[in-house]
Amino acid sequence: MRKNVIAANWKMNKVLSEANQFADAVVDKVPADDNVEAIVCAPFPFLPALVEKTKGSPIKIGAQNMHFEENGAFTGEVSPVMLRDLGVTHVVIGHSERRAYFAETDETVNKKTHAAFNHVLTPIICVGETLEQREANETKDHIENQVRKALEGLTDEQTASVIIAYEPIWAIGTGKTASSEDANEVCTHIRSVLKEITSEDVAEKVIIQYGGSVKPANVDELLAQSDIDGALVGGASLEAESFFKLVEAGT
Ligand code: G3H
Repeated sequence: MRKNVIAANWKMNKVLSEANQFADAVVDKVPADDNVEAIVCAPFPFLPALVEKTKGSPIKIGAQNMHFEENGAFTGEVSPVMLRDLGVTHVVIGHSERRAYFAETDETVNKKTHAAFNHVLTPIICVGETLEQREANETKDHIENQVRKALEGLTDEQTASVIIAYEPIWAIGTGKTASSEDANEVCTHIRSVLKEITSEDVAEKVIIQYGGSVKPANVDELLAQSDIDGALVGGASLEAESFFKLVEAGT
C-alpha cells in the first residue's frame, strides 16, 4: 500500500518569523502515521530554521529547487550538497513555474534528479500540461515525454523512490482543479508509463501526487482516487491550519 504524501510548496512566500510560526503551529500536531508523510518545501533562507524546529517530528523539509552541480562558479545557485548538509530530505524539481520563468528543461530536470539521488535527496518531479495542450488532446503524450526524460538513466531502485507530481498548469493557483477523475486518468497513465520503463512492481511503489488548487474542501475526493497518492499544494499550504487539515485527510 502506498502512503499519501502531502507536500506544501510555499513558493516565494513568507518571511522567517512567519515560517517559524508555521512550524511551531504544526510540529506537535502532525501525527506519526504510516499512511501519511508531511513535507514542507520552503524558500532556501528558511530551511535551517525549519529543519531545526521539526527535529524529532515526522515532518520532512524540502527545497523548491537546486542546481545539479555539487559546487563551483554558479553565482546565486544552491547545490544538493548544501541541502543535504542542512538536513533537507526532499527537493522539488521541474516545477512548471521554473520551467516557464527560469529556463528549466527536461534535460536539467533529469540532471537534477540524478544529482538528488547522488546526495540522498528524494526528488519531487513535477510534470503537467498547458491548457492549449489539454484542449488539443496532447496531455498524455506530453506527460509521458516529460516522465520518460526526467527518469532517464535511473536504476529501478531509484525510480521506485521518486515522487512524481502531476500538476496541470491551468489548475495552478487558478482555483480550477482538474476533476478528480481527470486527474486520476493522467496519474494512471503515468503509472502505466512507469510500468513500461521499469516493471509493474516498481511502478506500483511510486508515489504520484496531484497538484493544482488542492484545498481541504477537495482533497478527500482526490486522495480517494486509485492512482493519486497525495498532493503538492501551493496556496492552501501557507496557513498552518489548512496544511494540517490536508495532512489529516491523508491519514
Ligand atoms: O506546487 C504547487 C502547485 O503549483 C499548486 O499550487 O495549490 O496554489 O494551485 P496551488
